[in-house]
Amino acid sequence: MFANLSRRSFAGLAGLAALGMTTRASAAESDTHAPARFPKDFVWGTATSSYQIEGAVNEDGRGKSIWDVFSHTPGKIEDGTTGDRANEHYHRYKEDVGLIKALGVKAYRFSIAWPRVFPDGTGQPNPQGLDFYNRLVDELLANGIEPYATLYHWDLPQTLQDRVGGWQSSDTSKAFADYAAYVAARLTDRVKTIFTVNEVGRFVNFGYGWAIDAPGLKLPTAQLNQARHHVALAHGLAVQAIRASGRAGTKVGAAENIAACVPAIATAENIRAAEIATRELNAGFLGVVLEGKYTDGFLAYAGADAPKFTTDELKIIGTPNDFVGLNIYAPQFYVTASDRAPGFHVLPFPTSFPRMNSEWLRIGPEVIYWAPRIAAKIWNIDTIYISENGASSEDKLAADGQVYDLDRIMFLRNYLTQMQRAVAEGVPIRGYFLWSLMDNFEWIFGYGKRFGLYRVDFETQARVPKLSAAFYRDVVARNAIGV
Ligand code: BGC
Repeated sequence: MFANLSRRSFAGLAGLAALGMTTRASAAESDTHAPARFPKDFVWGTATSSYQIEGAVNEDGRGKSIWDVFSHTPGKIEDGTTGDRANEHYHRYKEDVGLIKALGVKAYRFSIAWPRVFPDGTGQPNPQGLDFYNRLVDELLANGIEPYATLYHWDLPQTLQDRVGGWQSSDTSKAFADYAAYVAARLTDRVKTIFTVNEVGRFVNFGYGWAIDAPGLKLPTAQLNQARHHVALAHGLAVQAIRASGRAGTKVGAAENIAACVPAIATAENIRAAEIATRELNAGFLGVVLEGKYTDGFLAYAGADAPKFTTDELKIIGTPNDFVGLNIYAPQFYVTASDRAPGFHVLPFPTSFPRMNSEWLRIGPEVIYWAPRIAAKIWNIDTIYISENGASSEDKLAADGQVYDLDRIMFLRNYLTQMQRAVAEGVPIRGYFLWSLMDNFEWIFGYGKRFGLYRVDFETQARVPKLSAAFYRDVVARNAIGV
C-alpha cells in the first residue's frame, strides 16, 4: 500500500499515526469543519478588458489606441503578437456571455474601448462604437448578469497621444470627462456601477516612466508625477461628469492595483507599519483621490519633482467616490516596524519565494486579507470590490482534452479563504471579480500567459472550461469555501 510513497511522506504518515490520527480521519474531520461562508448579497463576478479580448480593431469606425500602435512595434510584445484578433469577442460576445452564465456568477466587469466611442479621443462620437456595448449590456441583463463597466483599461486613443502627449496633458483629463459623460448618459439606465480608470499604478509607471507598456515613454520623474496627477484629475472630473449625466444613484469609483503592504509578522507594531506604508506608497493616486491631498511624505520625497497642482484640482480629485476597487494579485511589500521615519521597513524577497506562472505573481494569499483591511481603515472606506484577482498557470491540454490547472485552484482556494476571513471580520468587501473569464492578450506577454477560467485556442477560438471553472462555479453556488 505504501509502495508509492517517498520516505518523507511515509514518515509524515507515521507521525500522524503516533498522534492517533490517520489521513482518513483527518480528511473526515475537515469534511465536518464549518464552511467559510460569504454574506447572502456578496457579488461574485469575473472580469476582462476591451483590448485584451475584443479584436475587430478596424471595424465599425473604431479609432486606433496606443496599444494598437505599441503592439505593432517590433520587439514590444514577447511573442510578437497583437490584439488585432484576440478572442474575437466583438463578434462572439453572445457565446462569451454564455460562458459567464455557466459559472453561475451574477456580475461581469468589462471595459469600454474609448477609441470605439470617440475614434479621435474628442470631438465626433461614433455611435456604432457605443452600440457594441449596448448589445453586450443587453445580452448580459437578458442572462441575469449585472454589468460593471470600466471606462479606461489602458487603450487611450492614439490621436490624444499624438496631439497632446496623452496623459502628459490635462487636455486628456478633460477629454476623458467628456467621454465619461457621453457613456454615462447612454448606459447608466442599465449599468449601475462604473469604474473610471484601471490600475493607474501600472499604466502610468510602465507606460510613461519605464517604456514597458504603451505608449513606451521614459519620462523624467517630474513629468511622470505630473502625468499621474492628470490621471487623478481625469478620475475626479469623470466622477463628477457621471453624476451630472448619468442616472441618479450610479455608483462610481476606480479600480487600483494598490501597492499592497503586508506585515511580515502580524504584531501590532508591524500592522501599524503596514498602515503607514500603504498610505505613503499609494499617495500618488489612491491617497490623493481618497484624501483630496497628497501626503506630506509624498511631497517631501518628490521634492522638486512633485506634481504641480491647484487647490481646485485637489477638490475635484477628492470628489467622494461610492466604492474603491482593488486589484489584488501579489503582495508587493512585506514590512516591519522601524523607529526611523517613515516608520516602516521594506523587507527583501528571497529568490525562493513561490510564484505562479508569471515572474511577478508571487503567491501570498494573506495579501487579500491585509490590503482591504488596511485600506478600509486608513481611508475609512465602506465599500470595496476586489475588482481583479487571479493567476496564470501553464494550462496545457491533457490527453483527454481537459485542463487540470491545480495550481490555479490552489491559488484561488487560498486567496478566497483569506478574503472570507476579512469579510467575516467586517472588512467591507462587497464583491469579487476573478481575472479572467478566459485566456486573452496578456499585454507585453502576448498570448504566452494564460489567466482564464476558460482555455482559449487562439487558432480555432474554441473555449474549454478548465478545472478551475468547476472550482469557482462550486464556490459561487455554495457561497462558501470548504464544505
Ligand atoms: C490588469 C489586467 C492583466 C492582469 C494580469 C492586471 O494588471 O488589469 O489587464 O491582464 O492584471 O496581469
